[in-house]
Amino acid sequence: VSDDSIRISRRTALKGSGLAAVAATAAALAGGSSSASVRYGFHGKHPVGVATPMQRHLAFGTFDVTATTVTELRDVLATWSAAAARLMAGRPVAEANDPYFPPADTGETEDDGPSSLTITIGLGPTLFDSRFHLASRRPAALIDLPVFAGDRIDPQRRGGDLCVQACADDAIVAFHAVRNFARIAEGAVVLRDLQLGTGQTSTSDPSTSTPRNLLGFKDGTSNVRADSTDEMDHFVWVDSSSDQPWMIGGTYLVARRIRVHLEEWSALPIVDQQSVIGRFRDSGAPLTGSRERDPLELAKLDTFGTPVIPASAHVRVAAPETNGGIKILRRGYNFTDGVDPVTGELDAGLMFICFQQDPRRQFVTLQNKLSSSDALGRYVVHTGSGLYACPAPMTPNGFVGDALLT
Ligand code: HEM
Repeated sequence: VSDDSIRISRRTALKGSGLAAVAATAAALAGGSSSASVRYGFHGKHPVGVATPMQRHLAFGTFDVTATTVTELRDVLATWSAAAARLMAGRPVAEANDPYFPPADTGETEDDGPSSLTITIGLGPTLFDSRFHLASRRPAALIDLPVFAGDRIDPQRRGGDLCVQACADDAIVAFHAVRNFARIAEGAVVLRDLQLGTGQTSTSDPSTSTPRNLLGFKDGTSNVRADSTDEMDHFVWVDSSSDQPWMIGGTYLVARRIRVHLEEWSALPIVDQQSVIGRFRDSGAPLTGSRERDPLELAKLDTFGTPVIPASAHVRVAAPETNGGIKILRRGYNFTDGVDPVTGELDAGLMFICFQQDPRRQFVTLQNKLSSSDALGRYVVHTGSGLYACPAPMTPNGFVGDALLT
């Protein structure tokens, strides 16, 4: 939990109180966590929704910018940043309600409080094309992601000039944020794609138990520790070595919609599933150990002389030990989008989201390897893809991208 967040009760949130002491008392009086939600602050030296403990729900929207001037683009980001701060405080996106006009806020979350909402805004590589004369300000790390072996990216689910990641403990609160962002910037942006996700698939907080993904396996056992300043500074936050000072303190978000062929996966014997992942399904322990947090012993051989954690096991191929020490912060959600009308199979899987200091060194290196040698590759197909620069809204009344656009 970041410094500027406080735990408050739903009742307190509705009254709009911002006093930590009052809020803490109210939460205590409310008698536990059932009605408590966390209220996070939007402004700070790093973007929210990255180190923040994972909430239960995701709404991930991508947008095309239809505005044609830098001034209009600046207006979008300033309006969104102010709206993000309001929504995260449990307030409506705008107050004014004249009954003879459409409502300022769509209204469905009026009684919900902050619900631990965080909003993370990202800028895609296409924003730096000729339209806004920003080409010279494009960070070298904000590459056009390569096409990886086996990719089947749906054009509508690729890229986007802007992205908005809304995470909350209430699904409607997350959806409401993206929906109202589209509304308040109408005429300047068009919603390109919206992916909903639920049930976090990773933890970056070792004190909580590790959640399971749709494969039935614990996910997030070996992740960057969001509570470790050292790991966050080393692997996630952009530092002063960046070619673009406006990105210092920010991070890069990679989103991949990964469909999992769940029918095929759940027809595999458990021992085979475990060989694909490299961990035991029940305990989450590596195949070389017995407890979840036991280290991977990659050199260990069985009595036939073959590695206990197979050469193509997902964890071996992705582990820092086999990738020059690289780590990423994984923060994904399950998605379930009904039935594929062509095959009749479930269209479900993992909305994989990860954060890193430099995607060239981190995600791309890992995904290049995974796409060619990960045993899990037979059961998954990547259908959506995006890379976005997420600068920090540093100053108390600043907006995302202000140092880029002013
Ligand atoms: C549907 C797709 C995927 C599924 C179901 C999946 C599942 C898992 C599971 C069950 C683990 C073991 C538990 C853990 O340490 O968290 C794991 C580990 C990991 N995965 Fe994935 N994963 C997927 C895609 C990816 C992708 C696309 C990447 C990166 C490009 C990735 C990177 C990692 C890393 C770095 C680890 C930790 C390895 C270690 O240090 O032990 N995964 N994943």
